Amino acid sequence: MKLIIFGPPGSGKGTQGARIAEKLKIKRISTGDIFRDHIKRQTELGKMADKLIIEGKLVPDDITNSMVKESVAGLDSYILDGYPRNMIQARFLEEEIAPTEKVIHLDAPEDLIIKRLVNRRVCSKCKANFNLLFMPPKSEGVCDKCGGKLIQRDDDNEDSVKKRLEVYKRQSEPVIEFYREKGVVQTFDASDPPDKVFERIMASLDV
Ligand code: AP5
Ligand code: MG
Repeated sequence: MKLIIFGPPGSGKGTQGARIAEKLKIKRISTGDIFRDHIKRQTELGKMADKLIIEGKLVPDDITNSMVKESVAGLDSYILDGYPRNMIQARFLEEEIAPTEKVIHLDAPEDLIIKRLVNRRVCSKCKANFNLLFMPPKSEGVCDKCGGKLIQRDDDNEDSVKKRLEVYKRQSEPVIEFYREKGVVQTFDASDPPDKVFERIMASLDV
């Protein structure tokens, strides 16, 4: 099964993508997570991506495309989170990597997205996602799953979020039309609670 989880920043791609991957026992490939890992290790790519990510801009397509191609090599099943993000990447995926069987499209209003993102906290160790308003950890600043320290992403401030939303509208929204024409898109209301969204996604998958 070759899946994409698609949607604006904060729609729940990471939250739902991780649950789907766990349930289906498939690999989740998050381009954002890969870039953040490079930033942490201060690789050449990390140094370049750091600035772009804080500014809410996209990392260049050639770098992102070859990184994804390498990540999925040899895999029959996977779920892509954060890729493709523009038409160049979508065409590369379909023509140079493999055709996508289903796009899980998460839809959420902008005011909710901003609220979610400025209140998101992520585990510095296992990358689990929490939210001070909607999915708080059991004890403040500590990951429920592994005890790691919870941190805030550098791009989770109101300025960066607004820029990311602009980029999504301009560059990423056309991608959903491209896949709609292929008849592989299913849209879900991502403003509902996480369990409800997950239940609906799983019911729609032919597994
Ligand atoms: P990326 O890491 O992909 O970020 P994003 O697309 O902006 O999406 P987010 O991770 O912010 O949100 P999400 O949809 O995963 O939501 P989450 O589940 O965390 O990319 C970051 C940057 O990397 C990009 O801006 C770009 O610079 C670069 N990049 C990445 N991919 C690239 C590519 N292909 N090409 C070029 N550059 C690329 O949920 C958000 C919060 O809400 C959490 O706190 C969560 O707990 C909470 N929440 C989730 N679901 C619910 C719910 N149903 N109810 C209540 N709260 C919820
Ligand atoms: Mg994410």
